Amino acid sequence: TPSALRSVLTFTVNLARTAGTLILEGSQAVQSASDVNEKKNSVDLVTEYDVAVEELVKSEIAKAYPGFKFIGEESYSAGARPDLTDEPTFCVDPIDGTTNFVHGFPFACISLGLIYQKRPVLGVVFNPFLEHLYTAIEGQGAYLTRGSSQPLKLPLAAPKPLNSLSKALVAIEWGSDRGEGTLTGKSSSFLRLAGDPAEGIVGGRMAHSLRSLGSAALNFAMVAQGGLDMYWEIGCWPWDVCAGIVIAQESGGVVTGSHTALTSATSGNPSTDPFKVTPEILAGRKYLVIRAIADTP
Ligand code: IPD
Repeated sequence: TPSALRSVLTFTVNLARTAGTLILEGSQAVQSASDVNEKKNSVDLVTEYDVAVEELVKSEIAKAYPGFKFIGEESYSAGARPDLTDEPTFCVDPIDGTTNFVHGFPFACISLGLIYQKRPVLGVVFNPFLEHLYTAIEGQGAYLTRGSSQPLKLPLAAPKPLNSLSKALVAIEWGSDRGEGTLTGKSSSFLRLAGDPAEGIVGGRMAHSLRSLGSAALNFAMVAQGGLDMYWEIGCWPWDVCAGIVIAQESGGVVTGSHTALTSATSGNPSTDPFKVTPEILAGRKYLVIRAIADTP
C-alpha cells in the first residue's frame, strides 16, 4: 500500500545515509591504498568497501524486513542468483560508480531499489560526496533532497519535452567491457549522437554534447533532475538501474529497457541503434532513459 511504501522509504533513506558515511570513509582509505581488486579486467573494479557496504545493507534489511528478498551486486558476484519472484525484493548496488569512488571523483552513490510483483516500485539513490538524495515511490512523485543538516527537498518534474536530439545533453558511458565488438558498436553510437551530418557523419544528430558521470544510477537521477536530457547505455545490471527507473519515471521521464525482466542478465548487442527501441533492446541489458519523448522514431 502507499503508506507501507512510505514506511519502507523512511527505512531505506536512513540506511542510505548510514551507508553513505561508510562510502565516504572508504573513498578516503582507498585513494591512499596501493592496490584495488579487479573483477573481469583492469577497469572493472571492486573494493572491500563495495562488499562491506552490501553486507551492512543486507543485514539491516534482513532485520527490518525478514520476509523481503535481496539481490545485490556483490552477492551476485559471489554466486547468489536468486530468482525474481512476486515477493518484495531489494535490488542494491552498494557503490555505483566504483571507479569514481576509487579516484575520488565525487559522483558515486548507493542505489537501493525495491521490486514488488516484478516491478520497480521504490528507489533511493544517495551520493554522499555531494549530499544529494534522490527518492521516489511509484505514483507518489520523485524528490531531490540536498544537504543533511538543513535538508532542502525539491520535487523533480521533467521540464517541457525536448523537440530534437540536436538540443540535448546526452549521457553515455564507456562501461567495463572494452572489447572490440562492444566498443566499436558503442563508439559508433557516440559518433552518431555527437557528429555533425554537414561534416560527413552519416546519421549524425549533433547533440549539444555528451557526458559520462560514471554511475548509471546518477545518470538516471540527473535525467530526473533535468540536468541531462537523455542517458543511453548498453550493459547495465539490474542493481544499476532499479532505483533510477522509479526516480526517472516519477519525474516524468521515459525509460525503456529490460526492467520487466530485472534478473535476465543477457549480454546486449552493441551495434543496436540507440534511437530505436527494438525487441533486442527490450530483451537485453540496454537502457535508454529520456527526459521526455524527443525525436525518437
Ligand atoms: C557501473 C557504473 C558505470 C556503468 C556500468 C555500471 P559499478 O556500475 O554505473 O557508469 O557504465 O554499466 O555497471 O560497477 O560502478 O557498480
